[in-house]
Amino acid sequence: MSEMIKGPKGVPVYLPPQSNTFLAVREALAGPARRAGYGYIELPVYEDTSLFVRGVGESTDVVSKEMFTFTDRGERSITLRPEGTAGVMRAVIESGLDKGQLPVKIWYAGPFFRAERPQHGRYRQLQQVGIEAIGVDDPALDAEVIALADEGYRALGLTKYQLRLTTLGCTVCRPPYRERLQAFLAGLDLDEETQQRARINPLRVLDDKRADVQRQLVDAPLQADHVCEACATHYGLVREYLDALGVQYVEWPRLVRGLDYYTRTTFEFDHPFLGAQSGIGGGGRYDGLMAQLGGAPLSGIGFGLGTDRTMLACEAEGLTVGDPARCDVFLVPMGAEAKRHAVALAGRLRAVGVRVDLAYGDRALKGSMKAADRSGARYAIIIGERELADGVLPLKSLVTGDQESVASDDILRVVVERLEA
Ligand code: HAM
Repeated sequence: MSEMIKGPKGVPVYLPPQSNTFLAVREALAGPARRAGYGYIELPVYEDTSLFVRGVGESTDVVSKEMFTFTDRGERSITLRPEGTAGVMRAVIESGLDKGQLPVKIWYAGPFFRAERPQHGRYRQLQQVGIEAIGVDDPALDAEVIALADEGYRALGLTKYQLRLTTLGCTVCRPPYRERLQAFLAGLDLDEETQQRARINPLRVLDDKRADVQRQLVDAPLQADHVCEACATHYGLVREYLDALGVQYVEWPRLVRGLDYYTRTTFEFDHPFLGAQSGIGGGGRYDGLMAQLGGAPLSGIGFGLGTDRTMLACEAEGLTVGDPARCDVFLVPMGAEAKRHAVALAGRLRAVGVRVDLAYGDRALKGSMKAADRSGARYAIIIGERELADGVLPLKSLVTGDQESVASDDILRVVVERLEA
């Protein structure tokens, strides 16, 4: 016997019925953006490696440690996308979408790839729903993006998450703040590697999880306290619009994102039930990214919501999401003539939108009824010789066990009515 081939490590597989939850979560997270004028983009799963090096930032963990990079047959360096924003920018620049109506509003969903050490909620193939709004630097747009994420989580019934918000400044106020932070960090008792990090990417040091480092960071200067007037005004308006939208948030000046392109408004959704991997979504403004990738100097803001982690959050809050049933109606034919009838009836019911399955394999009634129960269907129709002769079909509720007789000619209408009830 051949050896069984195993699936790749750290890649979740969603099988029925759990996959219904996956689809429902994705739908719930994308729904608010679709209702706010965002158009769908289907992006390549791999891109030229330099797109992520330039877009996401060479010193980030995502680029320096976590990319799945390989050389293709034409000796080009290719990388499986670790995130979506850089690819959206690339596609918008290349297609000239940015020359039309602004803001360009885009949503996307699908797998992203990061070579992380797999653990609960941290995968090598992770799923996101994302949006990007490009070309208008209006704080009301920041508030819209944040509110759409919040609405997605709420639509699923989630209530325990926390929205953390801050501002990361801009090209005017970031450099002097960075110097101030570096000067502060230089005076601390840090190991060589951390000092090195303080020189290359001092903001990342603020995110150090070690207690002895955190203890020394209590008085560290924070960007939100050192922004220019324009950034302070922008941030103030974002908060006003969020208040107007009724979105609850907590100001979190120590927020550090893992990607380098962020400017000004930055946010994360944190779920307290998920342990170490508690970020269920995040995003922010990236006003310099498009120019950095060779496009027009347009601003942008967006989010990426973790579909996998949102599923875990729903589970942790005890929410049932999605319909685990495979079908609404299960047909059980008894005999060859009845089977011909059932096959045709299944086609007619499906044509009017009813989800239908039937007992294949000419099984005995008991086995077929077991299959009907397992399918999650709310109704079964058992079709035998007598039913065919009488032209009356028994519509049996698998929920209550009640049965009613329905004339063959009326069956479509009655089934649809019962399912809508
Ligand atoms: P990110 O914070 O790197 O942002 O990822 C967004 C979300 O994806 C995270 O909050 C988390 O829920 C999920 N996620 C990330 N890595 C993993 C993993 N290894 N396993 C499971 N889930 C994961 C971005 O990717 C930005 N592109 C978001 C954005 C869009 N910013 C502006 N526009």
